[in-house]
Amino acid sequence: MSKVKLTWLGHSCFEIRSGKSIIIDPFIDENPAATVSASELEPDIIAVTHGHSDHLGDTVSIAKRTGCTVVCIHEISQYLKSKGIQTIGMNIGGNVKIDDFSFTMTDALHSSSIDESDWSFDGGKAAGFVITCDDISIYHAGDTGVFKDMELISELYHPDVALVPIGGRYTMDARDAAVAVKMLQVKIAIPMHYNTFKQIAQDPIYFRDCVKSLSGAEVLLMDINESINL
Ligand code: NI
Ligand code: MN
Repeated sequence: MSKVKLTWLGHSCFEIRSGKSIIIDPFIDENPAATVSASELEPDIIAVTHGHSDHLGDTVSIAKRTGCTVVCIHEISQYLKSKGIQTIGMNIGGNVKIDDFSFTMTDALHSSSIDESDWSFDGGKAAGFVITCDDISIYHAGDTGVFKDMELISELYHPDVALVPIGGRYTMDARDAAVAVKMLQVKIAIPMHYNTFKQIAQDPIYFRDCVKSLSGAEVLLMDINESINL
């Protein structure tokens, strides 16, 4: 067993801990399903998949307080830099290594904007990440519809674990996400981005059944704030 601990903080927000703490998509204080507060989080690195408020979330306040680095696509990096935040900008297909962690940015079939009350800022392209540390490779799909190049993600990066949205409406639903898991050829699939709001109500048991009929992946249904050792 590796030393990697994965915790679900709700919606698409996960912490990967292996010595240092990586938090992906820290949508916390406005997240009706979250049980922690953004002010309690002490990440070393935040990774943001795209600009929508349920993903960019509390990135600005957490990064300002902790001084952590934010890994994200170039356009969001420019936006965060203008707020005095330390960023590492990248783009689809690129890789950066920070300490013992490797971040590869993958495509996602989705949009991206940074929306404030009276204006909207171009968030560039929506993305996902393959994050590797301690010989464990975790694919966080971000928000996405299913797409055939998930086979390429499997071929290039061999993820062990896939974190996939199943809520439908804004992303793939349970059935499509099961097809994604099959293409990704992962050992473990964990659903996210469901039941946070009524628009993305979904039965994760149905997702588990769909995966079972299509691939040998094990589906782990995590509770919010639950941690697993990978
Ligand atoms: Ni989105
Ligand atoms: Mn979303």
